[in-house]
Amino acid sequence: MFLPLLFTISLLFSSSAHASLLDFCVADPSLPDGPSGYSCKNPAQVTVDDFVYHALSIPTNTSNLLKFGVTAAFAPQFPGVNGLGISIARADLGVGGVVPLHTHPGASELIYLAEGTIVGGFISGSANTVYYKTLHKGDVMVFPQGVMHFQFNTGETPATVIASFGSANPGVQVTAFALFGNNLPSSFVEKITFLDEAEVRKLKGVFGGTG
Ligand SMILES: *[C@@H]1O[C@H](CO)[C@@H](O)[C@H](O)[C@H]1NC(C)=O
Repeated sequence: MFLPLLFTISLLFSSSAHASLLDFCVADPSLPDGPSGYSCKNPAQVTVDDFVYHALSIPTNTSNLLKFGVTAAFAPQFPGVNGLGISIARADLGVGGVVPLHTHPGASELIYLAEGTIVGGFISGSANTVYYKTLHKGDVMVFPQGVMHFQFNTGETPATVIASFGSANPGVQVTAFALFGNNLPSSFVEKITFLDEAEVRKLKGVFGGTG
């Protein structure tokens, strides 16, 4: 009777000690990144400031082609989320601003519209079905992992979006930059997009591509 009880208690104790060891793994960006995230900072050197991030309080600069700015709090910027499967970002859209068609290969996304009026939408990969909606302040919308999605400001005032992700490092691939912002040969781009030469040249000029 006594021995099994002792055994149970010691099991409980060791498993809770184990759990507390795994509570967090604040990233040490000086060590290499790997498939399971960054290596852990020495827990003895972790402070509360590793779990707090201030940069999202600052409006981002929207003086650019897209009238769109973003501040990410992913593991490289905010080491406290490393290994936790979550992260967050702030996006600002000036009047007429656009978050161009893009995907996050590593995470589903949930947005909360803190200010303004936008259209949010995504295109389902399985059925090519389009889902979009005008969102107003306080609305929430989800974008499933890996699907192409977009937002644009349809209001008369700037919009602010808070986006959370189911990964500490969701990654991002922007369709327009993938097609027109690199050295993919123009003749290839014409073939794979069905656009004509003049349009491809124009878009490469807009997005900084060559070739
Ligand atoms: C915003 O970005 C533009 C273009 O890069 C720059 O000229 C401007 O100074 C920036 N504004 C602020 C407030 O940083």
